[in-house]
Amino acid sequence: MGVAARRVDFALGRLLMYHGRAMFQTTAPGKIILFGEHAVVYGRPAIAAPVNGLQATATLTPGRPGQGVVLELPDVGDRMAVTADAAGQPLAHVTALALEVLRLVPPPDWTITLHSTIPVASGLGSGAAAATAIVRSLAAAAGAVLAPAQVSALVFESEKLFHGTPSGVDNTVIAFGRPVWFMRGQPPEPFTLAHPLTLVIGDTGVASPTGIAVGDVRRAWQAAPERYEALFDAIAQVALAARRAIEGGDADALGPLMDHNHETLQRIGVSSTDLDRLCQAARQSGALGAKLSGGGRGGNMIALVWPDQAQRVVQRLLAAGAASAIVTTIA
Ligand code: MEV
Repeated sequence: MGVAARRVDFALGRLLMYHGRAMFQTTAPGKIILFGEHAVVYGRPAIAAPVNGLQATATLTPGRPGQGVVLELPDVGDRMAVTADAAGQPLAHVTALALEVLRLVPPPDWTITLHSTIPVASGLGSGAAAATAIVRSLAAAAGAVLAPAQVSALVFESEKLFHGTPSGVDNTVIAFGRPVWFMRGQPPEPFTLAHPLTLVIGDTGVASPTGIAVGDVRRAWQAAPERYEALFDAIAQVALAARRAIEGGDADALGPLMDHNHETLQRIGVSSTDLDRLCQAARQSGALGAKLSGGGRGGNMIALVWPDQAQRVVQRLLAAGAASAIVTTIA
């Protein structure tokens, strides 16, 4: 930024002054699903938490006169002008909707540059985080305050384009920035953990778009509704027991519940040999429990560990073929 830079911090973002021109920088975290993925699409509860070590960052700067709003996505080598009928591209679509809600019509000449450390198509909420950071940058530049529920509702519209039939859990946990108990169509319940939880997140390195896994589960459910409803009910029971254990500070009970959730996800058909191998490696190196997290088929798994075991589990996951493994604390 150099000597001309001046910074004012504000909620979830920063106003930067660069040679007298205002820039706004806002962020949004990644997410993990602790319990309940897939079943949550069918009305069962899920527990999800933000991952603050992974972030999407949107930087809004003044653009060229007459350009309107332009999204720059240098990480993926893409650039797009936002038009009112941008319904085909999730990030352009959410930008157009936010401009409308913020009454920024006609649109100002702004460039929004997006960077993200959240791996794409890996179950960590990269799409919802990108959309959330963009919405926050527009609100900040407009001088408006959007409540988490408003941000979440806007981002949900882009999630529909990313996923087809999202439950809304990703946009909710990312916009609220807190662990949530989530049921489709109901206001989320942010909840308090008795003790922080330490988790290792292991990446299979296999990109797996959530929409494909969700679509496959839907077809399987349509073909055998009773079998799948029973599997979703089993996951709901596990999520309920997990909430009690998290609120009661019983980490020992949580590990087996994660294993149980993973087994049910295997039966639903969304695990993979990579995910199973990483979960097994984590358990063998002392994790309390492990499961896939998110859409599955590839992407990430999570392992619950005591803090002093975390590095050993990280090393074991890397030795078992994980593309990366990071430690996160959910508080
Ligand atoms: C994706 O993070 C979680 C799924 O349950 C899909 C959804 O809830 O929309 C697989």
